[in-house]
Amino acid sequence: MCGIVGVVGSRNATDILIQGLQKLEYRGYDSSGIFVTDEEHNEHLIKAVGRISELQRKIGIDVNGTTGIGHTRWATHGKPTENNAHPHVSESGRFVLVHNGVIENFLEIKNEYLEGHHFLGQTDTEVAVHLIGKFVEEDGMTTKEAFCKALDIIVGSFAFVMIDKEEPDTLYVGKNKSPLLVALGNGYNMVCSDAMAMIRETHDFLEIHDGERVIVKADSVEILNEAGELVSREPFVAELDLSDIGKGTYPYYMMKEIDEQPAVMRRISSKYTDENGNVVVDSEIVQAVNDSDRVYIVACGTSYHAGWASKMFFEKMTEIPVEVHLASEFGYNIPLLSKKPLFIFLSQSGETADSRQVLVKVSKLGHKVLTITNVAGSTLSREADYTMLLHAGPEIAVASTKAYTAQIATMAVLAKTVGVFRKNTIAEEFDLTKELGLVANAMSAVVAEKEVIEAITAENLLTTRNAFYIGRGNDYYVSMEAALKMKEISYIQCEGFAAGELKHGTIALIEDGTPVLAMISQKEVAAHTRGNVMEVLSRGANTIVISSEECAEVGDDFVINTVHPFLTTLAMVVPAQLIAYYATLQRGLDVDKPRNLAKSVTVE
Ligand code: AGP
Ligand code: GLU
Repeated sequence: MCGIVGVVGSRNATDILIQGLQKLEYRGYDSSGIFVTDEEHNEHLIKAVGRISELQRKIGIDVNGTTGIGHTRWATHGKPTENNAHPHVSESGRFVLVHNGVIENFLEIKNEYLEGHHFLGQTDTEVAVHLIGKFVEEDGMTTKEAFCKALDIIVGSFAFVMIDKEEPDTLYVGKNKSPLLVALGNGYNMVCSDAMAMIRETHDFLEIHDGERVIVKADSVEILNEAGELVSREPFVAELDLSDIGKGTYPYYMMKEIDEQPAVMRRISSKYTDENGNVVVDSEIVQAVNDSDRVYIVACGTSYHAGWASKMFFEKMTEIPVEVHLASEFGYNIPLLSKKPLFIFLSQSGETADSRQVLVKVSKLGHKVLTITNVAGSTLSREADYTMLLHAGPEIAVASTKAYTAQIATMAVLAKTVGVFRKNTIAEEFDLTKELGLVANAMSAVVAEKEVIEAITAENLLTTRNAFYIGRGNDYYVSMEAALKMKEISYIQCEGFAAGELKHGTIALIEDGTPVLAMISQKEVAAHTRGNVMEVLSRGANTIVISSEECAEVGDDFVINTVHPFLTTLAMVVPAQLIAYYATLQRGLDVDKPRNLAKSVTVE
């Protein structure tokens, strides 16, 4: 959550910070701020509540410097006010700091070390910068000693970048659990939460590991481990294209990302196919899955739903039982595990704190871990035994779309290869390349009919407060995802329900006009779901049926091309993504940046 940027040694610090913050705005956007300075100590601290554009409005042309830090906040402690916005300053104002994460012991620190200090807001962050200031100004430490000592005391997740106004040529940097990278420029250096922020400046980045403290100057980067020893590290090249992170001609990233899905399906297919046309995955990964007696998929939100959507075909092709768990629950209540578990972490960002805490725990227990993520080099990827990439290209809209479908397709790649390795006939007969091609075609057919979906949405969801998605089997799993999409961006209270379960209680909520969207893509359960549609219709519901060609009946509202029964979620989710998109637009809301949310959830 939240985006951090910093730069040292560039004549254009403000410009670099603002460009960077704009690229990171998807990580948090309730308030923002920058601090810039230079060798002559021309200092500017500017903050604003709301989007980065509000901050930009407050930045005059005189606001420039050679060194600076910036922050776009997703509030955890204290309301999104100007006083709570970062950067924060120490008691005397000499130290200026931005922070991503949560300081768990901030109250203890305040009570133990900072009696008499005067705080401007309620954030945990302000306590950290006061602590560093106290160590220097009251206890006589050097800035470096104070910074390192504070990091030893602070418990929680953090990425910090700090400037000492008396040394405007230096950034003090440290991290634990929250993501942070150093970006290497020509004659100047930068730091950022995500490579995307600085890709306009450079493709060369340095990882920072948890516990390290880094001193960044215009022409040097000094990395120290927790014991204070110098660490040497080679930079890596971020394979990101500026055009990948632009909106192009689209009004919103979400629509661009929905439209990209057919191409993503084809890309996954080709990335995991060898020159002989065989679907392939790293043999160590295949072996690890093959050696396991149970697969535990652990994830959050949309990625969790992708786990459910993959369970059935994974079990059919590999004959290995699969459990799907919410990361935020699993870590505190680890179920009785099988003898040889294999853990799969599904995570678009590869940074989700809830998933990471489970990864750390199960790795400590000695279990093998595979991360399936869209971001190479992300924390969950680095800390796992194995990684498979989604190859979906950067996903920027907060509402995940192409990452969901890419996760299911990548799980299908894994299931197919493990199944073939185990000589499972279902896996051998499943022509994944062909089937993903058909899925891509079905997706293209849906996006080609956007206007139809826009009209269905306007007709049925314009004024409603609540709605239901129902389905059975795969359609139930996709209903959960469809409902999450609707809730998070349109704010319509929407539940995804197993169609047969509705009558066991929830049907009491159906009133005249309640929209119930039924997903019907599987022949063997179609008649039963149609029965459930009739039940809610008799109680006044306004029903909307989305079916597949092979299950379609006259009067259905939207029909998708039939795809392989293993992969119906991939095609059925697309109309639901578009419905959520249009419901949001029609309510005049911001599709890409829904309230209260952030793209990368780096707090537990
Ligand atoms: C998706 O639309 C959500 N914004 C959210 O549920 C997301 O999928 C979840 O936070 C998990 O993120 P991850 O895939 O990056 O781990
Ligand atoms: N905990 C800090 C705050 O509430 C940082 C939040 C963030 O990561 O944006 O200000």
